[in-house]
Amino acid sequence: MSERLEDIAQAMVADGKGILAADESTGTIKKRFDSIGVESTEDNRRDYREMLFRADDAMKNCISGVILFDETLRQKAADGTPLVDLIRAAGAVPGIKVDAGAKDMPGFPGEKITEGLDGLRDRLREYHGLGARFAKWRAVIDIADGIPSWGCVKANAHALARYAALCQEAGIVPIVEPEVLMDGPVAAHDADRCYQVTEWALNTVFDELFEQRVLLEGMVLKPNMVISGKNASRQASAEEVAEKTVRCLKSTVPAAVPGIAFLSGGQSDEEATRHLSLMNEMGPLPWKLTFSYGRALQAAALKAWGGKTENVAAAQSAFSHRARMNGLAAAGKWSADQEKQAA
Ligand code: 13P
Repeated sequence: MSERLEDIAQAMVADGKGILAADESTGTIKKRFDSIGVESTEDNRRDYREMLFRADDAMKNCISGVILFDETLRQKAADGTPLVDLIRAAGAVPGIKVDAGAKDMPGFPGEKITEGLDGLRDRLREYHGLGARFAKWRAVIDIADGIPSWGCVKANAHALARYAALCQEAGIVPIVEPEVLMDGPVAAHDADRCYQVTEWALNTVFDELFEQRVLLEGMVLKPNMVISGKNASRQASAEEVAEKTVRCLKSTVPAAVPGIAFLSGGQSDEEATRHLSLMNEMGPLPWKLTFSYGRALQAAALKAWGGKTENVAAAQSAFSHRARMNGLAAAGKWSADQEKQAA
């Protein structure tokens, strides 16, 4: 596998494939395990992730890369094989979440700033040695009355650009993730408000990336879709989400960026797939459009697994099904009928 940033980025957005976000922090995976009544021990976390990475059908045919949490990058499968080797053997690129989480932003009530730049250069060097070839940093932008502020958008965009520059220095492709959240409290948070804020955030991020001399050909953008907030009084249709998202991205993301891999952000499994497929049907587009889903790829598999060894095969087939549907969506070839036939 080539070590050039441009080649790694292209591999991450290979045709008909997308990224599995399995980088839940210790706190987040505990929440996921709580939902199925499984204790979050190191072994259970390993078993769950090993189950996913050994799902051959999904991993070989539909998954281009896997984002890991620090613990998983260092873990070995039950038979002693490093989990990173399972991912590489399936032909996927191992990646690593490197931010230290979104924390309350001082002086900006209700807003967050992502931490983790201190010591990042050394951590990236170590992660490269452990096999990671891409990284992820997530900035969180909330929508509420008077929020987001310019100070928050600017500080998060600057941190993303500083992170991206450090990654590229270390031979690691940065996934740049400015997430405008969809679960804001206000009824006025409809798709048009999401459009405004997403456009603002992306313009600011690309300004900062330019100032920090980040190579656009050697990065992947991970944005939210332009979608109605959970509490919006009017919910946009799937066609509207697809049309607004593509329009917003065309007006903000340079064509030099090889690919855009969406987060699912709380959409249902099928919504996330449908939206992606509709967008790809609107092509030709200047960049690849694919998925980098966490919840929308794992929810069915997590439930089917339930922490029991005897459920591993059923969980793997649930994961493979979801991965296949999203692989089709990445090519603009998904349909609700296919979903039913394949289920
Ligand atoms: P979701 O798809 O569950 O939003 O997670 C993707 C992710 O990696 C968020 O940082």
